[in-house]
Amino acid sequence: MNTRETLKINEKGHLEIGGADCVDLAEKFGTPLYVLDEAHIRNMMRIYRDTIESEYDDNGLVLYASKAFSCEAIYRIAAQENIGVDVVSGGELYTALKAGFPASKIYMHGNNKLDYEIEEALDAKVRCIVADSPEEIDKIEREAAKRKIVQNILLRINPGVEAHTHAYIQTAKTDSKFGFSVSNRTAEKAVAYALSKKYVSLRGFHCHIGSQIFEKQSFVLAAEKCMDFAAEMKEKFGFVTEELNLGGGFGIWYTDEDKKIPPEGYREYLEALISAVKRKAGEKGLKLPFLIVEPGRSIVGEAGITLYTVGAIKEIPGLRKYVAVDGGMFDNPRYALYQAKYTPVLAARAAEPATEIVSIAGKCCESGDLIAMNVHLPKAKEGDLLAVLSTGAYNYSMAMNYNRNLIPPCVLVKDGKGEYIIKPQSYQDLTRNDVVPAYLLSETDK
Ligand code: LLP
Repeated sequence: MNTRETLKINEKGHLEIGGADCVDLAEKFGTPLYVLDEAHIRNMMRIYRDTIESEYDDNGLVLYASKAFSCEAIYRIAAQENIGVDVVSGGELYTALKAGFPASKIYMHGNNKLDYEIEEALDAKVRCIVADSPEEIDKIEREAAKRKIVQNILLRINPGVEAHTHAYIQTAKTDSKFGFSVSNRTAEKAVAYALSKKYVSLRGFHCHIGSQIFEKQSFVLAAEKCMDFAAEMKEKFGFVTEELNLGGGFGIWYTDEDKKIPPEGYREYLEALISAVKRKAGEKGLKLPFLIVEPGRSIVGEAGITLYTVGAIKEIPGLRKYVAVDGGMFDNPRYALYQAKYTPVLAARAAEPATEIVSIAGKCCESGDLIAMNVHLPKAKEGDLLAVLSTGAYNYSMAMNYNRNLIPPCVLVKDGKGEYIIKPQSYQDLTRNDVVPAYLLSETDK
């Protein structure tokens, strides 16, 4: 089990999250169900914020990367914790604003922001747009000019750091759809281009090397390369980097193959980044930039679990035993996408030793619809409550209605009590946008 206060096994042998018994949560809210522990989320936000305050003279900002889990409640929590957020679409921006999140602490990302998304960001007066292409710099310039404002931007640069993570979630190698490459000089050209614009104010650079990364060295290397680039730009154009955003990507525990980092342990990642930035600034004679980090997974990932009910159990003698649950790739597509690994627990028998190796299957009509392969469990039977741990990040946010399954609701637990932050979907929600053209209607429908 993970090292968090978030999860424990109570005297009944039941799994508890944030002080709430999972058996009670399942009875009250049904399954499948996402559950998040509010205390853990707040703790992680504070740890990042405090580290910037204490180690970097408060000269920076923590942004919660809201793609990891986006709904109105999470933006409220981020606002109360005095951190910023990054959004990557009009939809995330809309949700943040609807939750009353201050635009002055919103950064807008995306490798292909649509015209209306840029317009929405400018209308909302977001603090900064992270520009990813020359076309986008043009669009921002055009829209800012129309509004007679000067929009702050960062350029997303690609320093060519390869981190050890799944290829699809690795983003700063040279062959990536993201950012301006430093190595082939497109980044340098983008600086010159942005500086030539009147309604765009280039503040500095952004880089994000990937996600679920544990090696500090990869982050440090990226920070150093960004600072080297800042020094070059100062020399070439006299450009002073006021702001440096080093992205997110800090890894979390999913299974015992991963490092277990206690919440306080994440300070070290930030400290390593901070000392790299300070060291390089000293060496190159650069001003210390306003420093931004944007963790997503490490804020909400381990705060979350998904509760399922076991249904059919299929044993293929000598081959495999499948334990099917009432969810699947529609609430967690991460196995299907990345062969991600998870730890399941029988939530009402959490203290029992594992006696079997099974694979957890979903209910979708697709063989690849799996949640976890070859995991250890006590002998499961129909009706058992199954908890899958560390599902707070990129599960709800990537959920879908495949097979017209309903996306599960999400409950936030505070002081041992759960409350909906995302309501259950209904069948009516599924057909809400369906339209039947008149020619398909039969006489009796008319
Ligand atoms: N900043 C930028 C620009 C990003 O692209 C990301 C994640 C983050 C920050 C936050 O990274 P984190 O701290 O959460 O690692 N769907 C994948 C993860 C994709 C991550 C995309 N970018 C998954 O389920 O693993």
